[in-house]
Amino acid sequence: MTDKFDLASLRSEFPVMKRMLYLDSAHQTPMATSVRTALTEFLVEGNESAGPKPVWMRRVEIARENVAKLLNASAREIAFTKNTSEGLNIAANAVPLERGDNVLMIEGDHPNNAYAWLNLKRKGVEVRFIKLDTEIASAETFAPHIDARTKVISLSHVTFHAGHRHDIGNIGKLCASKGIYLVVDAMQSVGVLPVDVKALGVSVLAAGCHKGLLVPQGLGILYVKEGLDELQPAYLAMSSLANPPEDYIARPDDLAPRKDAGRFEMGNYNLPDLHALSAAIELINRAGPANIEQHVLSLGDRLITHLDALGIPLVGPRHRDSRAHIYVLDLPVAEWLDYLAQHQVRVSPERDGIRISFGLFNSLEDVDRVAALLKERHLQTTRSQAAEQID
Ligand SMILES: Cc1ncc(COP(=O)(O)O)c(C=O)c1O
Repeated sequence: MTDKFDLASLRSEFPVMKRMLYLDSAHQTPMATSVRTALTEFLVEGNESAGPKPVWMRRVEIARENVAKLLNASAREIAFTKNTSEGLNIAANAVPLERGDNVLMIEGDHPNNAYAWLNLKRKGVEVRFIKLDTEIASAETFAPHIDARTKVISLSHVTFHAGHRHDIGNIGKLCASKGIYLVVDAMQSVGVLPVDVKALGVSVLAAGCHKGLLVPQGLGILYVKEGLDELQPAYLAMSSLANPPEDYIARPDDLAPRKDAGRFEMGNYNLPDLHALSAAIELINRAGPANIEQHVLSLGDRLITHLDALGIPLVGPRHRDSRAHIYVLDLPVAEWLDYLAQHQVRVSPERDGIRISFGLFNSLEDVDRVAALLKERHLQTTRSQAAEQID
């Protein structure tokens, strides 16, 4: 971790931490003050000068460049969407797939990724769900299931339900060697881990911006690798066209979409969120994505040490390179959620337990605080169970 990572200064951006122990960044980000300022400036411009739209549109392009740099992509490879689910559906409907082709996914991955592809069943495309029997998915997970009709592998980079950090780079190499598209749901990784789409060998990446990217709900990013011209938009609007008509009268004889990822964009942008996004990326760059990764991993190390001492099982992976910021505790959800809420701790109920997730603003003391609360109740529960047995 470099000196650039100044936790006290980063934490001061999140006043919510004075009111509660926020351990739920995998659900949604608390708003940083610099993001709020960017939103307010936008609102003031709209309110007092009806918005200089050309200025706002120039800022959209700056936001696009900021996203591109964060992903090691070019601005031409970035489109703005509404959220992850929209991006994944765009991908599912853009890849040229025919009856009898198949798509490989991991069983239990985010349902919205699954539904985007399952919706192609009506076109005769098969979705094969692979059971994960290793700590994380890698090329070896998919290789035995690939046949001549496998066209796509689609999976999360980091899973929301247990925090697996799949080996996308390794899967990317397999996809490149077999001529398979790799579609990545990066909702839980962008802004938390360094994401280099080129090094990972990704064809299409979709993410919403309301978790690691620190902006309110309603904005998504979509990376579409340059040169994948066969990926064509299912919907068309003026903004998707190579030659939009200047007189705003549709030309039935010229429907050619743009060459860049903008061919997947539809109409006006979420301008407030795009203003927020540039401020958020500035904050992320101030911390440094590699530093954020190391920071959340250290918080995870500390949490695992506490869990081991308390005898509370971790649902997801333990190894450092198999996890990121999401840790699910194998505890009965209803009672523990309630207990933690009573102590002003915000976590999420998850399918296999209580989900603790870290943001760049969390500290080791936060981990110790939640561990102390876990210990207090865990001891009470163990004592009353022992008393019941004696009775
Ligand atoms: C891994 C993952 N994929 C997809 C989604 C859905 O995101 P969105 O609401 O941006 O479509 C989520 C939301 O929690 C998620 O965690």
